[in-house]
Amino acid sequence: MVPAAGRGERLGPGAPKALRELGGAPLLVHAVRALARSRAVGLVVVAAPPDGVAEVVGLLDSHGLDGKDVRVVAGGATRQESVRLGLAAIGEQVEIVLVHDAARPLVPVEVVDAVAAAVRAGAQAVVPAVPLADTVKRVGPAPAGGPEPVLDTPDRATLRAVQTPQGFRRSLLAEVHARALAEQEAGLAPAVTDDAGLVEHYGGQVVVVPGHEEAFKVTRPLDLVLAEAVLARRRA
Ligand code: C5P
Repeated sequence: MVPAAGRGERLGPGAPKALRELGGAPLLVHAVRALARSRAVGLVVVAAPPDGVAEVVGLLDSHGLDGKDVRVVAGGATRQESVRLGLAAIGEQVEIVLVHDAARPLVPVEVVDAVAAAVRAGAQAVVPAVPLADTVKRVGPAPAGGPEPVLDTPDRATLRAVQTPQGFRRSLLAEVHARALAEQEAGLAPAVTDDAGLVEHYGGQVVVVPGHEEAFKVTRPLDLVLAEAVLARRRA
């Protein structure tokens, strides 16, 4: 499934991020194609901006998608809600779900296949990840008018930058999203930014497979410049 309901404000003003153009097609179309290209994928569910469902259906219809079954549902106010709404549109007979950000339009099919294969081989939850180029520091709150103090520097060799698609047993993903919703309604929302983070939060085991540098997330304007260059190189 593809959560695609975000506004993408860090990319600057304009259409919702998933509908921004890259090489003549919206980011979302690239992301759906990237999944549909995998033989492991039989159905793609897209969580569209709530006021953009008809537009997304039209866009996906007009760009042929390898004959895969594609369903579009209205997404929610947060990524977590969008994933939960997308999951509700996936039947219980489906055993494995991959969750892939519309904002990662260029993920190579090898990454999609590797994530699906690792879940099929028995993992509960799988994330593709790459080593970090930068050193990372944890900082504390800045005192009034002052700079943020560095607290410590985790050993870079043990850190990974995590991408999507993230893969799960469907029943586990549905369970952790239901538990997170219940906690949220009790005012105890777990602070996680990805689906695997929810599995970790509830004590599940997440494992890593190699990601790919071209699976980067389009977040800021410079990322679009890079994505255009990668696409041009692929088309050359
Ligand atoms: O904003 P960010 O890049 O972290 O969003 C990651 C993905 O989650 C994007 O594909 C975005 O469209 C999606 N999202 C969503 N619903 C929201 C917020 C984000 O589907 N309310």
